[in-house]
Amino acid sequence: MSRPERVSILGVGNLGTCVARGLVSSGEFEAANVLLTRRRPELLSSLRDDGFPVGSDNVAAVRESDVVVLCVQPQQLDGVLAEVAPAIAPTHIVVSTVSGVSIAEIRRFLGPDVAVVRAMPNIGIAIGQSMTCLAADEASAAAVGVAHALFDQLGHTLEVQEEQMVPATALCACGIAFFLRAIRAASQGGIEIGFHADEALALAAQTARGAAELLLSSGNHPEIEIDRVTTPKGCTIYGLNEMENRGFSSALIRGIITASVKAAELYPHAAAE
Ligand SMILES: NC(=O)c1ccc[n+]([C@@H]2O[C@H](COP(=O)([O-])OP(=O)(O)OC[C@H]3O[C@@H](n4cnc5c(N)ncnc54)[C@H](OP(=O)(O)O)[C@@H]3O)[C@@H](O)[C@H]2O)c1
Repeated sequence: MSRPERVSILGVGNLGTCVARGLVSSGEFEAANVLLTRRRPELLSSLRDDGFPVGSDNVAAVRESDVVVLCVQPQQLDGVLAEVAPAIAPTHIVVSTVSGVSIAEIRRFLGPDVAVVRAMPNIGIAIGQSMTCLAADEASAAAVGVAHALFDQLGHTLEVQEEQMVPATALCACGIAFFLRAIRAASQGGIEIGFHADEALALAAQTARGAAELLLSSGNHPEIEIDRVTTPKGCTIYGLNEMENRGFSSALIRGIITASVKAAELYPHAAAE
């Protein structure tokens, strides 16, 4: 199975909604083939109106799907796994987006025969621009292609070792907040030098998009592009050097390391066992 026919998403909150809508927007899935659950399905009425089957019966959703995407909070996962384990067959593929819960822990409920893949997306998934890291153990390696079939529709994907899922949480899932804060800071600078707040934010955000697109389309190192902007004795190098004197790169690096350490503390079982 490279592309699943029917997908169930158990725990449709913020992330599950983005996954559901993203799969249908990609044109690869019909809403009728993406089954959604949460305990309060009445909160999914707009998704129901858009043709998604919606309910609170996790077991029924599992039985009617070939791929099960887990989107509940970490502390809710054990209960959901205990509930659906009897309905999960060896032909199912389980994809867990749940931060910090290892494949080995999921296997405690599902046993050794079911393929289990972990996926760590970020909120860019809402617009098909997630950076999603995927990890599988040896027994699930063949199922990674199915996870690609889902998450390639929702942005970019990269396969990593399971022990890299904690650093992936810091760099990608938390990371989107770090870049948003950098854009906010740039817009505040923009206001101080003469733009209205809405203009400053639009200018900063589009400039950030251009910077990211330059790197992604060329494959160049950032310094190659920076060298093109830094005229000798020009304003860019003065600005850059002032930022570095104030600890710009160091602050970002230390923030990412701190987030990774914290993610490991919050989710001590996240590494492969
Ligand atoms: N948000 C992100 O940027 C992001 C990024 C990467 C990974 N993640 C991971 O994704 C997971 C979900 O995050 P989120 O932000 O989407 O959380 P969320 O908005 O709280 O969604 C969790 C959903 O699970 C439902 N739920 C709880 N118990 C359930 C049960 N027994 N059966 C069915 N549904 C149940 C809840 O709805 P009811 O209370 O109505 O049941 C809720 O809608 C987390 O594990 C998080 O670590 C999130």
